[in-house]
Amino acid sequence: MTIKVWDYLVEHELERESIEKAVDRVFRSGRLILGENVTRFEQAFSAFCGVKHGVGVNSGTDALFLSLRALGVGPGDEVITVPNTAVPTVSAIVTAGATPRFVDIDPDTFLMDVAELPRALSPRVKCVLPVHLYGQCVDMDALTEVTRPRGISVLEDCAQSHGALYQGRRAGGLGDVAAFSFYPTKILGGYGDGGMAISDDPAVDGALRRLRFYGMEKTYYANEHGYNSRLDELHAAILLEKLAHLESYVERRRALARRYDEALADTGLVLPREAPGNRHAYYLYVCRHSQRDLILEELRKADILLNVSYPWPIHTMTGYGYLGYRNGDFPHAEAACREVFSLPMYPTLSEADQDRTIEVMTGLLRRLS
Ligand SMILES: Cc1ncc(COP(=O)(O)O)c(C=O)c1O
Repeated sequence: MTIKVWDYLVEHELERESIEKAVDRVFRSGRLILGENVTRFEQAFSAFCGVKHGVGVNSGTDALFLSLRALGVGPGDEVITVPNTAVPTVSAIVTAGATPRFVDIDPDTFLMDVAELPRALSPRVKCVLPVHLYGQCVDMDALTEVTRPRGISVLEDCAQSHGALYQGRRAGGLGDVAAFSFYPTKILGGYGDGGMAISDDPAVDGALRRLRFYGMEKTYYANEHGYNSRLDELHAAILLEKLAHLESYVERRRALARRYDEALADTGLVLPREAPGNRHAYYLYVCRHSQRDLILEELRKADILLNVSYPWPIHTMTGYGYLGYRNGDFPHAEAACREVFSLPMYPTLSEADQDRTIEVMTGLLRRLS
């Protein structure tokens, strides 16, 4: 049997009854768009994060883009992020009309190296967009020390960090606004696309609500130019069911991570490091090795499918060549893209499948050493 890096089928079987009931209730409710399920899920998920308001949207990408717009970011502004993120982090900045700027990463955590931020600042920087990559948070205290005195907004990309904690506070409650994705693979994932932007600021919340709904506060009257980006009732109902399990998903991911940590210590593989003050949610269990591509190939032969997030730093991609960066500009991010890979990680991964992965991996690493 193939061991996949992610699989939802066992989890679905465990939750199928409650999800099918929730879906059936929506079908028979007479209300399919912006009804009580969306409102309840917005309230429950933002409360889970310790934040006052949540606005359900189409996707994590839209949550990022609309958050930038709600913060007033647009043409002429610059937004700083990292090159080793998912393309949508950067595409959202461009969609908002702004210019992405990059800083390098800390090679130990793969997260934004906040010490690099001051050098990247220009008078045009309106927002910093830290990505809580792989399930743990950027050093937000240090980041805020840079942004707050300068009046620069902070938008957290939380697509990979549902349930993570930083200094005891939830990811998503550490900046001015935060964007979550509910794409199926995510820690809290649905059965299609979905996202949410959360904020304590009522003005940002109001702007997000208008922007996702054609710029309207009341039906058929646009207060401003807007879009259509709504989380639908079906998905809100499904995500409400799954939200009840979020803590246990994170616990299980952490238990699996501890098993990998113990079994793979001293094998020559660089293992993930939980940064100080963080409770890593292990969206991905990301390792590093100079012979990454060989490892991927050998495990594939053993029917174990690993993943690389991400193989190409964004500043080297043709699509963003116009930004003027070159290979060599961000050496830590570039090296990480050459060497990182992630092991199977999802709450219903069986210990037998994890043990087989460990066994094949340790055997291979012994031969490589
Ligand atoms: C770091 C990061 N940001 C943004 C996104 C975009 O989310 P979505 O796929 O829901 O648009 C993703 C997911 O792909 C992601 O991993």
